[in-house]
Formats: sequence, structure tokens, C-alpha cells
Amino acid sequence: MEDLIFEKGESALITINRPKALNALNRELIENLARVLRDVRHDRTIRVLIVTGAGDRAFVAGADIAAMSQMTAVDGLEFTRLIHRVMQTIEDLPIPVIAAVNGFALGGGLELAMACDLIVASDTARFGQPEINLALIPGAGGTQRLPHRIGHARARALVMTGEMIDAKTALEWGLLNQVVAPDQLMPEARKLAEKLLSKSAVALRHAKAALRASFTMEEDAGLRFEQAAFGLSFASDDRVEGTKAFVEKRDPKWQHK
Ligand code: CAA
Repeated sequence: MEDLIFEKGESALITINRPKALNALNRELIENLARVLRDVRHDRTIRVLIVTGAGDRAFVAGADIAAMSQMTAVDGLEFTRLIHRVMQTIEDLPIPVIAAVNGFALGGGLELAMACDLIVASDTARFGQPEINLALIPGAGGTQRLPHRIGHARARALVMTGEMIDAKTALEWGLLNQVVAPDQLMPEARKLAEKLLSKSAVALRHAKAALRASFTMEEDAGLRFEQAAFGLSFASDDRVEGTKAFVEKRDPKWQHK
């Protein structure tokens, strides 16, 4: 899998590795990503995942336009279904996922970042949904996730004009968690991963599932989902330890169960 580098660890790292094509996503790469995500899902030793792009120019500059130029309508439909499944797999992972955006995050690249839980970007990063310039529309979740993240007015402007925004604007619009100097991107992403590793994995799993419900459910059902998840979190050993440690004025020791 030359187009994807997977480094295992408590905090694992996936690097999209097609820097000559600004890490554009073709079918083979997406299928490889799906395979690696399956491994991540089943490996209980991985507790945080970071996703980034190779090189210093792009996180991912979108779906591979050269490949799409050869597709039929049926191919296009299969392609969008495949890429949607991968985005959903990331959202459904039971661990937090951090996007470390090191340059252009366009089209499927912005959509990949938005499928992650937290986004740290270098101050050189640029974001957009430029599909309109190809007489296409976002096909990896952008029409749904973008308005959810930055509101309808801004999402409509990005999708309909195809214009890019810089990292400072993306931070102001609430798309990003953090903007840092390029040489600080991976150190800051790893620092954030360390912070997450210091939490109970079981509590993070419940938190992620409940936050995801705010996207997939109506508010009333989402509030009920939160009640169920909150109740369920009482069943963990970590909850017993966390509340006890607070009362005893000491640091908790998590078992992650
Ligand atoms: N697909 C295929 N190749 C791409 C690519 C893409 N999305 N983006 C960049 N490349 C390739 C270029 O063709 C070029 O290759 P060659 O050196 O072989 O010519 C190389 O990467 C470097 O790119 P540029 O020379 O264009 O670099 P630049 O600095 O002049 O411009 C850019 C950078 C503004 C990001 C420009 O490359 C660009 O506009 N890329 C396309 C962005 C885009 O439209 N993305 C959306 C794709 S559609 C999509 O993603 C659908 C979906 O939702 C699933």
C-alpha cells in the first residue's frame, strides 16, 4: 500500500501518500483506507487515530479528477457510495480521530477532515468545496457535514462559489480546533492525542457516540440517546474509579473498561 502509510501505536497515524497528485483520492487508495480502518476498528490497543497527508502542500486535494474524467454515471455512483462508507466508518470508530491538515483540504479532502472528530491545521492550509468548477457537487458528505459545522449561509457560499478559505477564516468559522505553524502541526496533533490518551477510552467512546447523535438524530431522539449513553457510562469500572478518585483527591487510574 504505497499510497497509504499506516503506523500503529496507542496513537496510530495514517498518512495519505500521493504527494505528486496532492494526495488526491482514487478508488484504490480509498479501498486501502477502508482496509486500514477495519484494522484500526478491531485493534483494541489503538486508542487515538491521527490522519494526515504526505508532503507540505496538501492534506488531500479532493477526489482524483483524472480518474473521475474516465467514469461513467454508474462508476460515479459506485465511487460516491464507496467514499461515503469510508467517511462513515471514520465517524463510527469507537476512538477519537484527529485530522492534521498540512495544506490543501479540498473537496473530498475537506470532507475527510470533517469526518474526523477534531481538526488541527497548519496556517498554510486552505479549505474548500471546489467541485462546482468541475460541474460536480461534493460527493463525500460535504453538502451535509459542512452546513452542520459552519452553518447554512457559509456552507452554501463555499459549495456554490467553489471558493477557498484560509486557515484563519476556517478557525473563525468554527471548522477547526486549532491553527499552528507548519513545523508545529504534528507535534501539536500528537500533544492533542496525548491529552485524549489520558482519558478513559470507554468514556470517550460514549462521548463520541452521543456527539454523533447530534448529527444523525432529531434533537428529542438525540437527548434520549444521551440519557442512555450517560446511564451506560455508569456501568464502567472507570466511572467508579473517576468519581472515587475525585472524592479521595487523587488522580484516577483508568482501566479503559
Ligand atoms: N485530482 C487529481 N490530481 C490532482 C488533484 C486532484 N484532485 N489535485 C491536484 N492534482 C495534481 C495536479 O494535476 C498536478 O499534477 P501534475 O503535476 O501531474 O500536473 C499536481 O497534483 C499538482 O497540482 P497543481 O499543478 O494543480 O498545483 P497548483 O499549486 O497549481 O494548484 C490546487 C493546487 C489549487 C489544489 C489545484 O491542484 C486544484 O485545483 N486541484 C483540484 C482541487 C479540486 O477540485 N478538488 C475537488 C475534487 S472533486 C471531489 O473531491 C469530489 C468529492 O467530493 C468526492
